[in-house]
Amino acid sequence: MRIAMIGTGYVGLVSGACLADFGHHVVCIDKDTKKIGALQRGEIPIYEPGLQDIVRNNVREARLSFANELQEHVRSADAVFIAVGTPSRRDDGHADLSYIYDVAREVAAAVDGFTVVIAKSTVPVGTCDEIQRLIYQERPNADVAVVSNPEFMREGAAIRDFKFPDRIVVGSDDERAKTVLAEVYRPLSLNPVPMFYTTRRTAELIKYAANAFLATKITFINEIADLCEKVGADVQEVARGVGLDNRIGTKFLHAGPGFGGSCFPKDVRALIKTGQDHDVPLRILEAVATVNDNRKRAMARKVAAMFSGALRGKTVAVLGLTFKPNTDDLREAPSLALITALHDMGAHVRAFDPAGMAQAQVQMPKVAYCESAYDCAEGADALVIVTEWEQFRALDLERLRDLMATPVIVDLRNVYRPEELQRHGFAYACVGRQSYAGPAAGTSASQKREGIATTRGLHSL
Ligand SMILES: NC(=O)c1ccc[n+]([C@@H]2O[C@H](COP(=O)([O-])OP(=O)(O)OC[C@H]3O[C@@H](n4cnc5c(N)ncnc54)[C@H](O)[C@@H]3O)[C@@H](O)[C@H]2O)c1
Repeated sequence: MRIAMIGTGYVGLVSGACLADFGHHVVCIDKDTKKIGALQRGEIPIYEPGLQDIVRNNVREARLSFANELQEHVRSADAVFIAVGTPSRRDDGHADLSYIYDVAREVAAAVDGFTVVIAKSTVPVGTCDEIQRLIYQERPNADVAVVSNPEFMREGAAIRDFKFPDRIVVGSDDERAKTVLAEVYRPLSLNPVPMFYTTRRTAELIKYAANAFLATKITFINEIADLCEKVGADVQEVARGVGLDNRIGTKFLHAGPGFGGSCFPKDVRALIKTGQDHDVPLRILEAVATVNDNRKRAMARKVAAMFSGALRGKTVAVLGLTFKPNTDDLREAPSLALITALHDMGAHVRAFDPAGMAQAQVQMPKVAYCESAYDCAEGADALVIVTEWEQFRALDLERLRDLMATPVIVDLRNVYRPEELQRHGFAYACVGRQSYAGPAAGTSASQKREGIATTRGLHSL
């Protein structure tokens, strides 16, 4: 099967590479000449575990190639996937569909013979209808079927998710299109993967409803975490106790600094707008969006609370900038709002991230970027764990304590156990569990080494 993948970002590149790995002939197309140039030289423009090998192998086998222009590749394609971005429109939070509609017009000019045009991007209900209308407006004699086939992959685990999906949703009432989609995903039929056929509008809404539900689950446990802190309960145990109920499940019940990333925030906003446009206010999601926005900045107040609210002149070391581990994606990451708030409070910020620093340097030039977690901790008054990268899970606590000016850790991902940090002489704050604050700000180097002031003076927050 010949496939044109238009848009070579996280979704387009991973999907294109995996479809080539299934045995199809795939051309990944992108307007970004730098990105395509890099890919043609064998460089992978994003950080996604395992992607480099799949791209390399399939380029070598001549099943995967890259191009800037779509005409020739769309003309010869059986299936054309649209995987361009649908970011929030600046003024009102609606999904910006201009990239999608530009592609639709270009595709209309290029198609030849029966072609299935597949919206893989996350698009609001009715977008596929509009894509079809645009194509027929440009080329009344075109023979196309427009299908919704939303993508559910998670960055950081995208290849596994693409190759072992929980379900593949196909929205179409065109039998020829369904046959093509069945052929595209046929290699997956060895696994018990449910192909879920439905209407286009339903498929479009499934994607938004799924993301909105997950975002709601995260926000729910974050608010429960705040309550746990006030009443002396442990949110991790609450989450487990709740999640062991099969009706609820344990996933997406990890309290933290609020959700970020390229999907949840913008998709929640877009679904709220869709609801408003149809006179169906989605009140739960409105609350989710507001609570989550406020939460990211509130995390800076958690840091300030360790110094009785006075952060001016303090140096704060931030570990983890990306919105989650195993990606270099910084879009709407909690670190951005947190660091802005820390700067607003007069703190100096140092930071380290295993994959996100190149992008962060562009977006946050005031931050001092470091070579490693330990380099970052050196001389810091507080260390904040924002993203739970594997390498931050087993830090040498003795070494950290000796490097820091004051032994204060704010663990926004609950990576460490409070007793453990207390034992090592740290003042420690986490999310939804007992925190320990002490006179850490006044601790001398010798006291730090002996762990005197920090352990004796600690009190439960
Ligand atoms: N990132 C994820 O984890 C994820 C998961 C599921 C669904 N999605 C959805 O998939 C879509 C794409 O997301 P992404 O994260 O891959 O976006 P991205 O921003 O990483 O990539 C989009 C790419 O499209 C290219 N592009 C824009 N207009 C173009 C045009 N006219 N012709 C060719 N290329 C063009 C851009 O240059 C860019 O490289 C979005 O709708 C998103 O919501 C993303």
